[in-house]
Amino acid sequence: MAWGTIVFIVIYAFAVTFMLAGISAAPWVQTRKKERDTLAGLLSLRPGDTVYDLGCGDGAVLYDLAGRFPDVKFAGFEVSLLPYVLAKLRGLFAGRRGANVRILLRDLYAQDLHDAAAVFVFLMPKCYGRLQKKFAAELCPDSTVVIEVWPFAGITPVRHVKESKRVSLFVYRGEQFRS
Ligand SMILES: C[S@@+](CC[C@H](N)C(=O)[O-])C[C@H]1O[C@@H](n2cnc3c(N)ncnc32)[C@H](O)[C@@H]1O
Repeated sequence: MAWGTIVFIVIYAFAVTFMLAGISAAPWVQTRKKERDTLAGLLSLRPGDTVYDLGCGDGAVLYDLAGRFPDVKFAGFEVSLLPYVLAKLRGLFAGRRGANVRILLRDLYAQDLHDAAAVFVFLMPKCYGRLQKKFAAELCPDSTVVIEVWPFAGITPVRHVKESKRVSLFVYRGEQFRS
């Protein structure tokens, strides 16, 4: 196969998966350092806990948290090839600091969440209905869900953090999705 064809196919695959991710749940936008700092302060994690980032982008959140919680397991799911490859590269450069992070090319809805101590979500509200059903079926009652920017309609968060020049973070418990 000619190089031109290979390059075309690769660019096409990156563009199509980027577009499909935007349609599915959200386009890739990275959580800023400021919000990552706030998020880390909201999580109360024990050694051996598992944390998921649903739609992990380039892994910025996961690798940041992994540096702060070295005894916790982190996993992220991503369907868009560009951020997925960047997340994998980030892992290569993170060395031992990223040893507790897994990045999977996987639809976020395909991941079972029963073992999650915490789940981080920075997605568009259009996918919240499906997400809430998934949370109701799979999350442990005492698990933590942190949502960036847009809260779930009809569920009062146990905490809402809005600091100056930062976007909102909303904290929920797994049990809140069961009623
Ligand atoms: C707003 S970005 C957030 C990225 C990362 N969580 C962060 O906060 O920096 C949403 C990500 O979800 C990904 N995404 C969208 N639909 C998805 C799906 N069905 N399964 C997995 N990832 C998905 C997008 O490609 C994008 O990278």
